[in-house]
Amino acid sequence: MKIVTTIEELRHARGELSNSVGFVPTMGALHNGHLSLIQKSTAQNDHTIVSVFVNPTQFLAGEDFETYPKRTQADIKICELAGVDILFMPNAEAMYGACEPSIIAPSTKAYILEGLARPGHFDGVLRVVLKLFNLTKPYRAYFGKKDAQQLYLIQNMVKTLFLDLEIVPCEIVREDDGLALSSRNVYLNAHERQEALLLSKSLKVASRALMGKERDCEIIKAEMLEVLSPLHVEYVEILNRDFDTIPSIELGNCIILVCAKVGTTRLIDNLWI
Ligand code: PAJ
Repeated sequence: MKIVTTIEELRHARGELSNSVGFVPTMGALHNGHLSLIQKSTAQNDHTIVSVFVNPTQFLAGEDFETYPKRTQADIKICELAGVDILFMPNAEAMYGACEPSIIAPSTKAYILEGLARPGHFDGVLRVVLKLFNLTKPYRAYFGKKDAQQLYLIQNMVKTLFLDLEIVPCEIVREDDGLALSSRNVYLNAHERQEALLLSKSLKVASRALMGKERDCEIIKAEMLEVLSPLHVEYVEILNRDFDTIPSIELGNCIILVCAKVGTTRLIDNLWI
């Protein structure tokens, strides 16, 4: 595995690979969720490139950019064992110039839910992902359904900017007790770790209501909010796969999304139905 930090090194290393390249962008502190994306990429492509870059432009002032977990040596080991060809670990100076074009995420879809609490977050995500696509020239790129809105906005960018690659959505990886894996789970203390289970529990309650033939979004949301009541809930939303609100569930075209604060940690989870 080649570990590269500069644009020149990356361009050179990429030039030595064929076109069958899968790309997995990450912010590091890799866990089994990231690993599942990497494994899918190594299974589907001749070569895999992983990036580890804590992207400053997607953090708002006061967020955890400075303290975002860093586990460089472990990340290198995980990528090596997973059969990654190139691990790209740039610094911010390599990725950003003094005079940047603005890449604006569509306001109707990027300033709701996550984007409402974190205005501008998705502009930063799209900007860095577009740069990374241009550098790595992948045939396929892998994103987790865990960040459903991010996945939607990236798919939308690829479609509307006519980018020539396939986005592969990957299933959410969970702990045995249901908690969706996240690099930010390390912020939770033992009590908060227990409370965090309420997110996945609320989605199970929604799923049970659906199995009982309930289709009314407001009723399902109310049941979820009851489960989540000990937490500071930011949103519970049921949308179609284009991120539009809907009055009733359309099976096969819905996402149920939840965001709540556990202590000071914002957690998100969702269920695709
Ligand atoms: P990061 O949070 O490191 O996540 C990298 C990728 O791993 C994303 O596609 C995310 O959805 C996926 N992922 C995280 N937890 C997962 C889980 N439990 N199951 C399945 N997939 C999971 O998302 C980002 O970084 C950044 O915004 C990035 C796209 C790299 C741009 O900076």
